Amino acid sequence: MDYKNLIVEIDENILYVTINRPSKLNALNKETIKELHEAFADAKEDEETKVIILTGSGEKAFVAGADISEFSDFSPEEGKHLAAEGQAKLFDYVANFPKPVIAAINGFALGGGLELAMAAHFRIASDNAKMGLPEVSLGLVPGYGGTQRLPQLVGKGRAMEMIMTAGMIDANQALRYNLVNHVTTQEDLMEFTEGMADKILKNSLVAISAAIRAINANYEAGVNGFEAEIEEFGKCFGTEDFEEGTSAFLSKRKADFPGR
Ligand code: COA
Repeated sequence: MDYKNLIVEIDENILYVTINRPSKLNALNKETIKELHEAFADAKEDEETKVIILTGSGEKAFVAGADISEFSDFSPEEGKHLAAEGQAKLFDYVANFPKPVIAAINGFALGGGLELAMAAHFRIASDNAKMGLPEVSLGLVPGYGGTQRLPQLVGKGRAMEMIMTAGMIDANQALRYNLVNHVTTQEDLMEFTEGMADKILKNSLVAISAAIRAINANYEAGVNGFEAEIEEFGKCFGTEDFEEGTSAFLSKRKADFPGR
C-alpha cells in the first residue's frame, strides 16, 4: 500500500514503518496519524509481519510533535476530539498492539513524537536523540497519553519536572530515566534494533501477544494484572506454540513455533 507520509517496508518478518515528512521534522498531522493507523491495522492482519520497528526519516527527527499548524485555531471541543481520536486511532492502538512494536528514536522525539515512542512496547535511541514534552510552552498539556505514560516510565517526579519545564533530555539522560532501554550511535541504531527484533523472532509470538496483554493489564484502571496474568498463562497451555516449545526443550532441539 502506498502512503503519502510513511515508508512501509517488510524484510524477514520485520515491518519497518518510517514516518516520512522530513521537511516538517516528521510532525504528526492528521493525515499521518490516519496513515499510521492504516499501516498498523494492515500489519495486524499480515501474517508476514511479526515485529514492527517504528522510526523517523532523515537524521534529525523521529517525530517533532503533533503538527502545531493544524490545531492553532481549535476550540476546546475540537481539542478534546483531537486528543480522543488520536489516542484511540494511534497511541492506544500501538500500546495494545498484539505484535511487538519497537521505537527506534533517531533524533527529536517531542510532544506527540515522544508520546508515540512511549506507546511503543519499548524504545532504543541513537545518541543524537532529544526527548521532551514541551506542550506547556504552547499553553497545552500533552494530549496523546503523555501525562500517563511518562510517569509510568520515568516516575512521577521526573515526569512532573519534564512536563513543567518543557525541557528536553538527551539520549543518555533518557537511558538513566528508563525512558529508553538502550542508546547506540546514529549509524548503529537500525542494526542494533534489528538484532533485538531477531531475538524476539526466535520466541513464540502467540505467547508474546499474551505477555503484552498481561503487562498492559497492570496499567488499566480497575483491572487486576495478576488475575490477567493467570488467565493468559492458562490459555497458553491450549496453544500449539506451547506444545512445540515444551517438546522442543524436552527433546533438546530448537523450537519451530507454528504461530511464527
Ligand atoms: N508542528 C509543525 N511543524 C513543525 C513542528 C511541529 N511540531 N516541528 C517542526 N516543524 C517544522 C518547522 O515549522 C519548520 O518548518 P518550515 O521550514 O516550513 O518553517 C521545520 O519543521 C523545521 O523545523 P525548525 O524549527 O526550523 O528546526 P530547528 O532545528 O530550528 O528546531 C525543533 C527543531 C524540534 C527544536 C523545533 O522545530 C521545535 O521546537 N518544534 C516544535 C516542538 C514542539 O513543540 N512539539 C510539540 C507539539 S505539541
